[in-house]
Amino acid sequence: MHTPDASPDAAHGLRRIRHPNPVRAIAVASGKGGVGKTNVTANLAISLRKLGKKVMIVDADLGLSNIDVLLHLAPKHIIQNLLNGDMPLKDILIEGPHGIKILPAGSGVQELTSLGQHEKLKLLDELDMLKEQFDIMIVDTEAGISENVTYFTVAGNLASLTESARELAYKHTVKADAIDEKVWSNDSARVYGILYDLKGNTASAVQFYMTDSTRHYLRGSLYFTAQPNEDSLLPVITFLRDDIIRMIETLTWR
Ligand SMILES: Nc1ncnc2c1ncn2[C@@H]1O[C@H](COP(=O)(O)OP(=O)(O)O)[C@@H](O)[C@H]1O
Ligand SMILES: [Mg+2]
Repeated sequence: MHTPDASPDAAHGLRRIRHPNPVRAIAVASGKGGVGKTNVTANLAISLRKLGKKVMIVDADLGLSNIDVLLHLAPKHIIQNLLNGDMPLKDILIEGPHGIKILPAGSGVQELTSLGQHEKLKLLDELDMLKEQFDIMIVDTEAGISENVTYFTVAGNLASLTESARELAYKHTVKADAIDEKVWSNDSARVYGILYDLKGNTASAVQFYMTDSTRHYLRGSLYFTAQPNEDSLLPVITFLRDDIIRMIETLTWR
């Protein structure tokens, strides 16, 4: 008999759910670069370490100013060695100040935001094996909302672009009243659009489109790769929503 749950991926997931004391993961994120994520990551790690927590930093920012540079470390191996299957996680981790463990990333390689299913499982499996050694995992992320923000040129298609943005928002919910629409209109910057707040356990809680109505069209959605549970995600959603609003408020077209 065919049992869909018998796939190795589902088994992976079930094994993880059973762990009684999962490592607490904190992602440090922002819509813009250079706002202090890496510094927050380092300082948070050191503060938590001083409180007696066992801390691990995952460098998920493959840009130039990496956590290892900030902490004056010279990693020999990077997260890609793990993903390529060359090396186990424990051999890649390096030790930083106060015994903080760091999983370094290196620059200009594949984006961690676009890992395939197999690579994600491999990373999760390896992290699982070290779960007893850590209380907290801090993830220093790359700026931006990555592939969840899409740019279009209007080219006479304003109405259809707006219609598909609207469809994209409404397809996530069966109840129309579960969506708040906040209309945006800034004449001086020529930024017009709608911010959609989707209530409930939707796959995407915040979406928006912004346009100058003649040339530029920007559409974005906030997605989590976690189970969409509004109760537990709400603090993160609120925080990232503020970031999205700040991005919209400071948007300028070139
Ligand atoms: N709290 C702060 N006050 C002043 N400058 C800061 C602060 N946090 C970070 N910086 C500076 O801002 C720049 C970017 O910081 P960084 O942590 O690398 O940001 P991100 O990781 O978001 O790109 C660095 O030059 C850093 O020294
Ligand atoms: Mg950084």
